[in-house]
Amino acid sequence: MIYSFLNQKGGVGKTTLSIHTASEFARRGQKVLLIDADPQGSALAWSNFRESPEFTVVGMPKATIHKEIEMLAEDYDHVVIDGPPRVTELARSIILASDIVIIPLQPSPMDVWASAETVDLVKEAQTFRPKIKVCMAVNRKIANTAIGRDVRKALKELKVPVLKSDIGQRVAYAESAAIGSTVLGKRMSKPAQEVKKFVNELRRIT
Ligand SMILES: Nc1ncnc2c1ncn2[C@@H]1O[C@H](COP(=O)(O)OP(=O)(O)OP(=O)(O)O)[C@@H](O)[C@H]1O
Ligand SMILES: [Mg+2]
Repeated sequence: MIYSFLNQKGGVGKTTLSIHTASEFARRGQKVLLIDADPQGSALAWSNFRESPEFTVVGMPKATIHKEIEMLAEDYDHVVIDGPPRVTELARSIILASDIVIIPLQPSPMDVWASAETVDLVKEAQTFRPKIKVCMAVNRKIANTAIGRDVRKALKELKVPVLKSDIGQRVAYAESAAIGSTVLGKRMSKPAQEVKKFVNELRRIT
């Protein structure tokens, strides 16, 4: 299964969610490839800090991913693609390579409006490959705030399913990334639990 995290908007959590999804699959004993398709190379930089590489990370910011994905994915149970912001040609190629495109966004109206562009790119690709799935994922949600609830209402306009499992605003995501790690080490912690729930939901819908 090929999961890509994509949003033309920058800083919404594509890399954070890619790393955590890939890492959670690896912890479940599955063979995972994480493709860093962002010329900024953030996931690759993160992987260079890792102490114990649980899975393979490769850098491939090329608009030919959709042509090479079959060969790349051959030896893996799951492939996760971390997409770039802004680069439309690359985004198109990533979408065509995906079984499911996950569009992360933060709970703000600006993010909802900015995500429409990525939704349109997916819809365009679906005319060639109707099997490509798409969903939105709320990241950095602050519990019990009106904006957290309102974002779901605003998202209805995009007419794309929204994952039920939100990812919260937690300093642990940034802190763990800074040392080449994830929040998944402490299995019973709140962040680890929410990532597990998130990945379970992804598995259910794919
Ligand atoms: N749930 C979260 N809680 C706290 N901080 C977060 C969370 N998700 C992401 N961040 C932080 O927000 C910043 C942007 O996240 P990230 O790099 O994952 O976004 P991105 O969409 O990949 O950005 P870019 O478009 O530049 O590739 C990072 O500093 C990251 O640590
Ligand atoms: Mg990124």
